[in-house]
Amino acid sequence: MKRVEKSVGVLCGVLLLAGIFAFAGQVTGGQRKAQPKEEAYDESTYGPANPIIWTKPLKAVVFSHKTHTMGAGLSCDNCHDAIFEMAAGTAQEKPDFTMASLYKGKYCGACHDGNMAFASNTRCATCHVGVKGYNRLTGADAKKSGKAGH
Ligand code: HEC
Ligand code: HEC
Ligand code: HEC
Repeated sequence: MKRVEKSVGVLCGVLLLAGIFAFAGQVTGGQRKAQPKEEAYDESTYGPANPIIWTKPLKAVVFSHKTHTMGAGLSCDNCHDAIFEMAAGTAQEKPDFTMASLYKGKYCGACHDGNMAFASNTRCATCHVGVKGYNRLTGADAKKSGKAGH
């Protein structure tokens, strides 16, 4: 028992140190002027920086341009405008923005078919961030905690 506690203590110490080093690294890294190796995110090349978040029918699903364009190498016309319009929130106004449609190859399902990208009937939580994820991404938590209880 004692031994376990001790090694947990040591592990915590190591993690704490690692955290401090990582933080210090970020601070000094941030002060450096040019970081030629890291490619800057350019919205006109890769699409909007902020994630798109849908709340209907289910709160909430998230989509990142960055991981699809800069990350997966897709170009704008892989999605615009045949699959998605260039206006956030358009798809969720359509009654068929559902899993059934995805499974039939519509919307995200055009690629998330287990072939071109991971299948829509797997890894639910990669797309679905839930209410907590929604609050985290939109900062709704901070707003809520400003108010007194209901
Ligand atoms: C993998 C699919 C995909 C690719 C590739 C893609 N987009 Fe998008 N884009 C979306 C989706 C999904 C939306 C939100 C549409 C909706 O809510 O109905 C969107 C919305 C947008 C919007 C509107 C944002 C807003 O706040 O209203 C812009 C602008 C945009 N995309 C630009 C681009 C550009 C520029 C590229 C290429 C560099 C690109 N997109 C590539 C899927 C994609
Ligand atoms: C034009 C094809 C295409 C469309 C449409 C598309 N994706 Fe993707 N997506 C990809 C590819 C390719 C990858 C990278 C390979 C993989 O992860 O399987 C990817 C990866 C992802 C990832 C993992 C990377 C990350 O962001 O963490 C998520 C989540 C994701 N897509 C969500 C969505 C959602 C939600 C939609 C619909 C709004 C969508 N995708 C529509 C092609 C597409
Ligand atoms: C590739 C991204 C993606 C994956 C993976 C995914 N979903 Fe979805 N899901 C969506 C999108 C987009 C919507 C429609 C927008 C919304 O509801 O916010 C949706 C909507 C839903 C809905 C409400 C509409 C309906 O069809 O009833 C349910 C329930 C749901 N998903 C369950 C799941 C479950 C369970 C899994 C895993 C087995 C899963 N989803 C995996 C993207 C995804």
